[in-house]
Amino acid sequence: MHVPGVWSLWKGLLLTLLLSNSVNAIDIDVTDEDAASTSVYAMMTYYKGNETGHIPGAFASKWWEGAALFLALLHYWHFTGDTTYNEQLSVGMEWQAGDCDYMPSNYSSYLGNDDQMFWGLAAMTAAELQFADSTVGEGYSWLALAQGVFNTQVARWDTTKCGGGMRWQIWSWESGYTMKNAISNGGLFQLSARLYRYTGSETYGKWARKIWDWSVSSPLLSNSTWNVADSTEMSDDCTTQGNTQWSYNYGTYLMGATYMYNYTNGTEQATWKTAVSGLLNQTLDKFAPNSNGGILEEIVCEPSEVCNNNEILFKGLVSGWLSFTALLAPFTFDTILPKLQTSAQAAAKSCTGHDNNTCGVRWYKSVYDGWIGMEEQISATNIFVANLINFETSAPVTSTTGGNSTSNPTAGTNDTDSSTNTLSTITTADKAGAGIVAVLFVFGWVGLMGWTVMGG
Ligand SMILES: *[C@@H]1O[C@H](CO)[C@@H](O)[C@H](O)[C@H]1NC(C)=O
Ligand SMILES: *[C@@H]1O[C@H](CO)[C@@H](O)[C@H](O)[C@H]1NC(C)=O
Ligand SMILES: *[C@@H]1O[C@H](CO)[C@@H](O)[C@H](O)[C@H]1NC(C)=O
Ligand SMILES: *[C@@H]1O[C@H](CO)[C@@H](O)[C@H](O)[C@H]1NC(C)=O
Ligand SMILES: *[C@@H]1O[C@H](CO)[C@@H](O)[C@H](O)[C@H]1NC(C)=O
Ligand SMILES: *[C@@H]1O[C@H](CO)[C@@H](O)[C@H](O)[C@H]1NC(C)=O
Ligand SMILES: *[C@@H]1O[C@H](CO)[C@@H](O)[C@H](O)[C@H]1NC(C)=O
Ligand SMILES: *[C@@H]1O[C@H](CO)[C@@H](O)[C@H](O)[C@H]1NC(C)=O
Ligand SMILES: *[C@@H]1O[C@H](CO)[C@@H](O)[C@H](O)[C@H]1NC(C)=O
Repeated sequence: MHVPGVWSLWKGLLLTLLLSNSVNAIDIDVTDEDAASTSVYAMMTYYKGNETGHIPGAFASKWWEGAALFLALLHYWHFTGDTTYNEQLSVGMEWQAGDCDYMPSNYSSYLGNDDQMFWGLAAMTAAELQFADSTVGEGYSWLALAQGVFNTQVARWDTTKCGGGMRWQIWSWESGYTMKNAISNGGLFQLSARLYRYTGSETYGKWARKIWDWSVSSPLLSNSTWNVADSTEMSDDCTTQGNTQWSYNYGTYLMGATYMYNYTNGTEQATWKTAVSGLLNQTLDKFAPNSNGGILEEIVCEPSEVCNNNEILFKGLVSGWLSFTALLAPFTFDTILPKLQTSAQAAAKSCTGHDNNTCGVRWYKSVYDGWIGMEEQISATNIFVANLINFETSAPVTSTTGGNSTSNPTAGTNDTDSSTNTLSTITTADKAGAGIVAVLFVFGWVGLMGWTVMGG
């Protein structure tokens, strides 16, 4: 059994005393940090990046999941103060940096915009949580890495169809190249909004507004019903939608709107407040409905138990984003906290597998459901940590409120194999390799499925 750090232990004891009437599930008590430290320990048993013969931060067949794992570690460290995994976190996030843009050449020929974007969000989170910049390797700062992802992505803004928007895929040989989807656009919107608040630079604010406005003009996002669709096809100029409902599509637009709300003033702020409220209502009504005890659920795949590894991670990402939303848009705190609490309590009851607190997929079942894997542990860690906003309420910082990550506004702009406009640098061998790996990899087959199911 994992022994939590001394600091964590003391704080855990204190909180247990304060909340001694809490729900107990086997030996996990969700009101203290033991649940988080137990699940993060199990999560890290899947991470081999610090062992001989392994590559830091690399998940060969599912590269983007490294970002999900490091995001969970960052939140874990911030909300518990436990530094156990910080070294691995720092080394892994630096190792995968590419030319300061998270397009490392081992993987860049088959990455989608969403894959790269998640690493950018992890770097942004590191800057906002005052995780010390790395001094190893190239020593790229977290802020510069987020800027590098932003720079390489806005260079791919596509105006050939649909009046703008990010394609899902970067490369023409990937099947999602002719599609524009919510996670790629909502992801870059979120990254832009966070860079805007952190740096105060209007460059990022302009892009955040531009991506939002384009999304609203497309079938992806409605600013009246607050529906978020998964994807739209360029072949019909984005007039139809693949409307499969995934929690992270809502979560990423909600998170970006929250940062815009937090940073702007006056009538613009009032508009963002409406967006936060509308998207939050839909997110919670759809993915944590009262009919389900208010417990977070990936509604498309959980009831029939067909969630793939990507999908198992979605509600964990949303858990973390909801916790930041509660802190940055305090008017949402009282709405969000109960959902995080009931979800964490249910997750604790689902983390009772194999006599060692293995976590399942379906928290709403409130029993272990037999599933096991890194993704299950990442999402459980996320909900246990998100629940801690009740105790540790320090919010993400900016460059004027304690953030000291070094800025490099032109980061990533010299990377020759990151752009979609110049395919000349990609060799035939790259393409052949990419084709094989893509079969195993494809992060967003989700989007494709959404299209097949709903678009026809
Ligand atoms: C828990 O037990 C399962 C089944 O034996 C095993 O696969 C898993 O690695 C164990 N988890 C930990 C954290 O030891
Ligand atoms: C890798 O990190 C884990 C968890 O911190 C630790 O138990 C293990 O000893 C480390 N392995 C090496 C080779 O440093
Ligand atoms: C790329 O692959 C090489 C060879 O396996 C390895 O040494 C290097 O660490 C890898 N880089 C990344 C960023 O994964
Ligand atoms: C930036 O702040 C972090 C956290 O407070 C600190 O660990 C780090 O040393 C600081 N870096 C510099 C260059 O001041
Ligand atoms: C919704 O978006 C449209 C198009 O951008 C805009 O004209 C309208 O003012 C927006 N409505 C609200 C309530 O923000
Ligand atoms: C919002 O108002 C505050 C206080 O007047 C000001 O410091 C800040 O720069 C304004 N923010 C923006 C984005 O204009
Ligand atoms: C969200 O729900 C609350 C509570 O029902 C309601 O007051 C608010 O107007 C809703 N927000 C939007 C934008 O519809
Ligand atoms: C922005 O976030 C900070 C940190 O939580 C909070 O104190 C502040 O009230 C937020 N601003 C608004 C307008 O809600
Ligand atoms: C590209 O930029 C990075 C930092 O942004 C720098 O470290 C690297 O040396 C540059 N590479 C080239 C080929 O100029």
